[in-house]
Amino acid sequence: MTGTKPVTVRDLVARKGGEKIVMVTAYDALFARIVDDAGVDAILVGDSLANVVAGLDSTVRVTLDQMIYHARLARRGCKRALLVVDLPFMTYQVSAEDGMRNAGRVMQETGAQAVKLEGGTPARAETVARIVEMGVPVMGHLGFTPQSVHALGGARVQGRDEAGEARLLDEAKRLEDAGAFAIVLELVPAAAARRVSEAVRIPTIGIGAGAGCDGQVLVLHDLLGLNGDFAPKFLKRYAELGEAARRAIESFAAETRAGTFPDDAHSF
Ligand code: KIV
Repeated sequence: MTGTKPVTVRDLVARKGGEKIVMVTAYDALFARIVDDAGVDAILVGDSLANVVAGLDSTVRVTLDQMIYHARLARRGCKRALLVVDLPFMTYQVSAEDGMRNAGRVMQETGAQAVKLEGGTPARAETVARIVEMGVPVMGHLGFTPQSVHALGGARVQGRDEAGEARLLDEAKRLEDAGAFAIVLELVPAAAARRVSEAVRIPTIGIGAGAGCDGQVLVLHDLLGLNGDFAPKFLKRYAELGEAARRAIESFAAETRAGTFPDDAHSF
């Protein structure tokens, strides 16, 4: 989708089964501007910022205040794409009221247009329904749900067997019935993700879930090759910016030590 008109939740829902939705993460104004300029449909301020920019080993340790801080930065760089913000761990798991209050804070304090939360149990669907009822669009997240990484025993593919796929299907339908406008499917076998996508009327956005979803999301720093040697099977690194950055800094250091920088062209 191109043009200058800001992308809305309705626009994304209308893309079900049509032109694929593109979502990329960003956690600050600089990268949000680059991602927005590239013409993506949605920018996700993901709690993956834990692993990617905070140097933590899981998203479990991210707080709401940290998410709000990064979302406010991203908001300044995001002019056209739909801005979606992750509700972090412990902001919606204890009660629907927590979820409503914290979703409200995110919307009010960041200028985001939607929140995302993980899981599809009946209790989680109730929380989604209550947040939607407040007028806040909710994106679901099923399959591997990183906030449950310890319970799931690591970043493992979900829905591999018949029972697992049936559970995914139930959860996706539950989220749809609760009013979610889209669902991220993470680490799901391609065939299962395709069947889940075909079973719901709202768009699915895959990460490690094959080509049968209605869109794809990647973590910006992963797709740019900025995140060390992180290279899971599902990830395509579209650039090697980490390596390019290291080489640039080495050149600056070498020229400074040799006394060749700054030269006349870079001096007053
Ligand atoms: O936090 C995040 O970046 C995410 C994506 C992996 C979908 O939830």
